[in-house]
Amino acid sequence: MRYIKLFTPALLTIAMAGFQPAVHAAGKVTYYCSAQEDWCQLMADGFEAKTGIKVNMTRKSSGETLAQLKAEADNPKGDVWWGGTGDPHMQAAEEGLTVAYESPARGELHDWAIAQAESAGNKTIGIYSGALGYGYNEEVLKANNLPEPACWKDLLKPEYKGHVQMANPNSSGTAYTTLATIVQLFGEEEGFEFMKGLHKNINQYTKSGSAPIKAAARGENTIGIVFMHDAVKQAASGFPIKVVAPCEGTGYEIGSMSLIKDARNAENAQKFYDWALSADVQSRSLEVKAFQVMSNTAAKSSPDAPDLDSIKLIDYDFAKYGSSAERKRLLKKWDDEVSNLPQ
Ligand code: G6P
Repeated sequence: MRYIKLFTPALLTIAMAGFQPAVHAAGKVTYYCSAQEDWCQLMADGFEAKTGIKVNMTRKSSGETLAQLKAEADNPKGDVWWGGTGDPHMQAAEEGLTVAYESPARGELHDWAIAQAESAGNKTIGIYSGALGYGYNEEVLKANNLPEPACWKDLLKPEYKGHVQMANPNSSGTAYTTLATIVQLFGEEEGFEFMKGLHKNINQYTKSGSAPIKAAARGENTIGIVFMHDAVKQAASGFPIKVVAPCEGTGYEIGSMSLIKDARNAENAQKFYDWALSADVQSRSLEVKAFQVMSNTAAKSSPDAPDLDSIKLIDYDFAKYGSSAERKRLLKKWDDEVSNLPQ
């Protein structure tokens, strides 16, 4: 009796340790997200609800997140980077900012998602795919007596001056995909002439890739160069947005995910990674009208989603345009030769 009494407080402490709320036992994960804010949030909430692991989420555009990884390289604060175009994920892999991992879910993925992983030594993987294009507000277009554009080259017409918006390719993966697409479609010389001509019609270079079509939906802009699924999202939300697959053909993205090197919560980051590749989780993208093609072959798709098979896609060279040297070179050239020009 006496023995038990003496030791009761200690036993009680040990017993109580087992009743800590799950979130403490499960720990946390710092998650950098470069997709749409609502989808980022859905993923954070979904993972936290499923595992009890507390998620600290930061949403930034693809190029901005790459810059953050570089700035934090000596003292990484992030654990996993989910979403955003593949090119900056490829650059991060090449620059040793992310680590190789092969998920048990890998066998459930489309070939293009695995190809992305293989070309980066498994330091990244495809989570979704989507074609580039543009969208316009039909009402604003009519109110300004403008013709309906159908091709990339239509956007150079002088009547569209001040009516076209795209993001800055330094911060935005969407805009970098645009620059790389135009260069691959028309060749570098003609491609840069195109970007210079387009510059004359641009009313603003935004930070985030999807901002131009959100502005068009609100009637504050006419034409937004974005991924087609971002334009479809606005149309499906009831805005008068028409989506265009440019007549010359177009590029596409392989939205990617990477594990950050020297992560503080590496084990939880890996759990997030495996979870994010599952069909059930990827199917939840439809709840926020994210109409990309998901990388898990069993994930659900929407009839509203752009049909990639019916769009003229170029053979986008992800290895080349995601390489550190090429990405830096093109961005510098755009900064020097295009963005400085008077409008
Ligand atoms: C949107 C698209 C994604 C794309 C992302 C890139 O969220 O829905 O498919 O990966 O933009 O964002 P960024 O701001 O870097 O262009």
